[in-house]
Amino acid sequence: MKDVTKLILEDGAVQDRRIYWDQDIYEQELEQIFARAWQFLAHESQIPNAGDFITTRMGEDNVIVARQPDGKIKAFINSCPHRGNVVCHADTGNARAFTCAYHGWAFGLDGELATVPLEHDAYYDAIERPRYAMHPVAKVESYKGLVFGTFDAGAPSLRDYLGDMAWYMDTFLDVPGGIELLGPPMKSILNCNWKVPVENFIADGYHVGWAHAAALKAIESPLSPLAGNQAYDVNSGLQVATRGGHGFGVIWDAAAAIHPDGGAYREWLAKRTPIMRERLGEWRSRFYNGHWDASIFPNCSFLYGTNTWKLWLPMGPHNIEVWTWTLVEKDMPAELKQMMVATNMMTFGTAGMLETDDGENMEQCTGSNRGWVTRRGKLYSGMGQVREGVHAELPGIVGKGIVCETSNRGFYRRWAELMSGRSWEEISREPHYAPNREVA
Ligand code: FES
Ligand SMILES: [Fe+2]
Repeated sequence: MKDVTKLILEDGAVQDRRIYWDQDIYEQELEQIFARAWQFLAHESQIPNAGDFITTRMGEDNVIVARQPDGKIKAFINSCPHRGNVVCHADTGNARAFTCAYHGWAFGLDGELATVPLEHDAYYDAIERPRYAMHPVAKVESYKGLVFGTFDAGAPSLRDYLGDMAWYMDTFLDVPGGIELLGPPMKSILNCNWKVPVENFIADGYHVGWAHAAALKAIESPLSPLAGNQAYDVNSGLQVATRGGHGFGVIWDAAAAIHPDGGAYREWLAKRTPIMRERLGEWRSRFYNGHWDASIFPNCSFLYGTNTWKLWLPMGPHNIEVWTWTLVEKDMPAELKQMMVATNMMTFGTAGMLETDDGENMEQCTGSNRGWVTRRGKLYSGMGQVREGVHAELPGIVGKGIVCETSNRGFYRRWAELMSGRSWEEISREPHYAPNREVA
């Protein structure tokens, strides 16, 4: 196993470039991160009824996520325990059983082996069916409609895993009626390492005015003046790294700002804000009106406000599949939801203007590490490290302003913790990074 203490230095601010390229480090990620960490599977609204299922991936493992007759959700590996065939080829649907196309073994909604063709005549009734259930995802839990799974039976509860990030995400999860993810997800391939988009979404307020200058101008929204960093008030928000590698940045009062015609959304926010203040207090009613860029460790990201919800599925060290949904409040009027979908497609859909800006940069950031000498270099995300600290009222480590890399460092500290192979227990007992500085 690679010694990761040499790969991430200076409290997460310096990364060895090999983590974006080397196959052996990637294999270690599959083992130490994707086979252990909680990963986003679905929103409950995608599988409301018994028998509803979706297929997705955890790391590179294909999984089926299915609603059981008792309402619970189970997940299991979508590979037949007979000879390994993929059992379910559909992205989504409703089923009473999953039947393998190769020899016809059929599995229940719970993944148990239910019927075997010629069981009596060919196996002489000697097959022990419980041994050949589809491999279960060890734990599946929901947090306010968001369904996650982990292969590690020893992982902490989902609530503990999300930690303080859950407190922040309640800002939009606790709206009356809850949220939903509108799909089916757009799917595309990017030739980049999976961590590059995660860090872009978790922390990168720096690139917005620069990389997206042309798109911001073309979209003609209240965010247009950011183009070329012309009118970028870097103090108009903050950034948070929560323990566990999650984090986000927020621009105050900008939830609706990317929408060229955001009037109806602004009205919606104005109507809802008193309710949210009542429910969650002053700070989170402020977050409710902010625009967020965020990532949940390891590979789920979202932009609250632009309302894009992303899953970056690894396909080797240099490739990912991107899945994109539109996050809306369930109670929003249909026209407002439609407006959200349209803006999401225009900005962060597969051919979205900002998605293509980012995609180009992400691919180049990965591909340049092909060079053997290049790969032995380091990358730097130390922006704002000298000013981040603890906040009297907000949990986590708070970075001042929206242009800093506080949550990027938090992500890499967690990455290094899990990649070390230490147990959850050991990691939780260790002292963790805590800058001795108070920020206002
Ligand atoms: S591989 Fe599935 S039944 Fe044989
Ligand atoms: Fe971007």
